[in-house]
Amino acid sequence: MGGPGPTGIGAPRPAGGRRRRPPAWAADGRWIGSPRAADHPLVPGRWRHPVTNAKRAAGRRAADLVEDGMAVGLGTGSTVFFTLERLAERVRDEGLHVRGVPTSIDTETKAREFGIPLATLEEVERLAVTIDGADEIDGDYQMIKGGGGALLREKVVASISDRVVTVVGRDKVVERLGTTFLLPVEVVPFARAVVARAIEAAGGAPNVRLTGPDAPFVTDNGNQILDCKFEGGIADARALAEVLSRQPGAVEHGLFIDLATDVVVGDDAGGAELRSKA
Ligand code: 5RP
Repeated sequence: MGGPGPTGIGAPRPAGGRRRRPPAWAADGRWIGSPRAADHPLVPGRWRHPVTNAKRAAGRRAADLVEDGMAVGLGTGSTVFFTLERLAERVRDEGLHVRGVPTSIDTETKAREFGIPLATLEEVERLAVTIDGADEIDGDYQMIKGGGGALLREKVVASISDRVVTVVGRDKVVERLGTTFLLPVEVVPFARAVVARAIEAAGGAPNVRLTGPDAPFVTDNGNQILDCKFEGGIADARALAEVLSRQPGAVEHGLFIDLATDVVVGDDAGGAELRSKA
């Protein structure tokens, strides 16, 4: 299903006014982006979402969008795991020819185990589609990503993709970014304190992501992550993204602005709904 509903994501801008951010995909009038706070890691030290049936439904449904001969960006995370699983089934059962470009070492390992043919960015200039998870997505298809720490490679791969299909459970659909998830910022270790002060100046509270006492999480690129809390959420995600993009030492941030083109929202009953940006 491609078209926007009257109140759903991608709804037309009302004449003469700024578009009010709609309650996400509430085409039937029902607000579904109402996560229970307890389920969400808005505290330092909890940066992953639990694996749910909704993730499985969304991940697998998105794999069915891949067509024969496509070069495909392979995102990172537990939802994308199910995409890999389904894609591998299609490669095996339908003889589907694909070349996957993984966004992390973890995904590369899993894709190899699944037998999905891989390619590098040296070999592939553009990708027909990238399928990736998200930590939050709002009604304008803007996202927070980086829960798995793969935000840098994920953004590079998204940037060369004709279509970026985001796979999420309903609990990740939010009205305002930063209300259920901390914003990850990947930093060069040398510059960590400098970037942390800049984030504070922008209204955020940064925390170094740790894997143990005094053991910073290290990304595939040898960098660290600051998970940043913005009280009340991020008021202007586009403006904050610009500030962070200009900050020396911050190699990438988890605000994915104007990158997603489609979203597949899974639910715990095993259903999955595809929405596409107008
Ligand atoms: C990794 C990501 C993931 O896509 C995001 O954290 C969602 O992960 P999951 O599907 O496991 O909830 O951005 O950097």
